[in-house]
Amino acid sequence: MIDIAVLASGSGTNLQALIDTPSIRPHLRLVLADRAEAPALRRAEEAGIATVSVPWSDHESRDDFSLTVADAIDRSGATGVVLAGFMRILSPSFIERFHPWILNIHPSLLPAFPGQDAVKQALDRGVKITGVTVHVVDELVDHGPIVAQRAVPVNPGDTVESLHARIQVEEHDLYPRVVEAMIQGRLPLAGASV
Ligand code: GRF
Repeated sequence: MIDIAVLASGSGTNLQALIDTPSIRPHLRLVLADRAEAPALRRAEEAGIATVSVPWSDHESRDDFSLTVADAIDRSGATGVVLAGFMRILSPSFIERFHPWILNIHPSLLPAFPGQDAVKQALDRGVKITGVTVHVVDELVDHGPIVAQRAVPVNPGDTVESLHARIQVEEHDLYPRVVEAMIQGRLPLAGASV
């Protein structure tokens, strides 16, 4: 079994979906945020999960920040990492240390619309279907082997908010399924796909 640390910067609704999954909750060793005010940390505290805040501004470089994060994860006993709205890019040495046990969730059908504002990018491009992707993290942003995807239709009149809300419904169902598989050590990697 692989225990996990969840890294989050924002509201933490994906974290909440993991907390609310009974088969996952006992394996959540740590919730780490890059800012002390992240609502994700409050959710973890309420669930009785250890938290740590690692402010970006306390560090001189990406490598330095990533090392602090990796050491906190090691101390927690977690060997798997789940990114859930974590807004910092981690250094290649961090990725190497935990690979392939690092997952990310992204609100588009990768490889379409990587990076920030994925929902807005999809709307601006006029796609009729977008969705959500869970992938293993490699050293490039929103790039590693795809583990699972769900499609979400774009409705006429959708705004970034309305579309993102429907994408999040899928995220909250999909991410716990994939994280559960990772906890059980079931993420076989084969070339570019999983
Ligand atoms: C999600 O939409 C996820 O796909 C993206 O960041 C968002 C995090 O949302 N990476 P939340 O903090 O889990 O609510």
